[in-house]
Amino acid sequence: MKSLLVTGGAGFIGTNFVYYWLKNHPEDNIVVLDALTYAGNRANLIEAEKNPSFKFVHGNILDESLVKSLLLDHKINTIVHFAAESHVDRSIHGPDEFINTNIVGTHSLLKIAKKIWLDENPQSHRFHHISTDEVYGSLKPDDPPFTEDSPYAPNSPYAASKAASDHLVRAYNKTYGLQTTISNCSNNYGPYQFPEKLIPLIIINILHGKPLPVYGDGKQIRDWLYVDDHNLGVDLILQKGIPGKTYNIGGSNEWQNIDIVNLICDLLHETLLKNKDLQKKYTKSPSSKGEHPKTLITNVPDRLGHDRRYAIDPKLMLAELNYKPNELFSTGIEKNIEWIFSNNEWWESVLDESYLDWIDKNYHCSPK
Ligand code: NAD
Ligand code: DAU
Repeated sequence: MKSLLVTGGAGFIGTNFVYYWLKNHPEDNIVVLDALTYAGNRANLIEAEKNPSFKFVHGNILDESLVKSLLLDHKINTIVHFAAESHVDRSIHGPDEFINTNIVGTHSLLKIAKKIWLDENPQSHRFHHISTDEVYGSLKPDDPPFTEDSPYAPNSPYAASKAASDHLVRAYNKTYGLQTTISNCSNNYGPYQFPEKLIPLIIINILHGKPLPVYGDGKQIRDWLYVDDHNLGVDLILQKGIPGKTYNIGGSNEWQNIDIVNLICDLLHETLLKNKDLQKKYTKSPSSKGEHPKTLITNVPDRLGHDRRYAIDPKLMLAELNYKPNELFSTGIEKNIEWIFSNNEWWESVLDESYLDWIDKNYHCSPK
């Protein structure tokens, strides 16, 4: 039986992971440790909190004494470390928090895990670190996808902070023998994603008739994966992955940004045209006024240091762990749109004035 400490469990992927785990491993206990930054929302976990095997703790991964007492009090034998500052644009405008949480915070967790699991009370354990394909830098159009042996070449402060944390995790395995695994995953999408990220931002801006900011020429490529397929990959690594190893998780699903934006415009237009109630609710959406949402597409200056292309070679996960994503992009994106329509209270509650100001300043376009 596992007793898990899930850091960052009130954020996008962490929330989905908690629900995935409660459903698929009901015998296990879960403690979530989350600092509830702008990206964390305790209300995400309202259903999980009804479960006696689940506990939420509001706190920071940098708080060594808190982490130590959680490991001891809850007999934690598995850490799944999601907590991070995760948005590339924010890292460009203010890298300090990325260094604190992603590098110093990860190191703080590693130190306590080593102290409890190796030095004071040796026991079987696993420290799984959630990382990103961005540590490998940018691919050219004809380059083969990233493998676990691709050299690290992070380009943004976010990617550099995640790369540094990966190296620390590796070092704690090689030097002290901490039982670590790392997964480097491609772009996730799905429920509870904070609407500063491309897919929810585009959907919500269409509903409000706001510009759809496309950075540069919009031909940058990302490899999109439904969030529960990321969780499935992490599950397999926790069950069967080899300590000391890194696994890349991807969707083999490369899309140019502009094609994703056009696809979402078409899907939302179709849905709104068919549904008078939605037209009454979202009166500012172009579709409610007989126009196509594509009229909102606005080319804005490119992100600094913008990586052109990411893609993951999924061979190792397939060969060693028999991993294959379940969700097709065509069904996943429809599920994601449907979730946003059915959970408007969720995103209305996270879209406060400061967020709109931030978009206005940093995306070079004015929300209406
Ligand atoms: P997110 O920004 O939605 O959530 C991050 C969570 O961490 C929030 O709940 C926040 O409150 C919490 N947190 C931040 N600083 C903390 C601290 N110091 N102590 C405790 N909690 C803290 O992020 P996400 O998109 O869910 O990403 C989760 C992890 O997955 C990150 O490590 C990210 O690098 C990685 N990742 C994300 C993607 C993606 O597409 N979103 C892809 C690959 C890897
Ligand atoms: O690849 C994994 C990474 O994916 C994760 O490690 C990060 O945590 C996660 O945020 C994501 O990073 P990206 O920078 O790729 O995601 P984002 O949604 O911010 O942007 C996706 C692409 O869309 C990127 O090329 C930038 C572009 N973009 C984004 C926004 C928000 C736009 O053109 N316009 C926008 O308004």
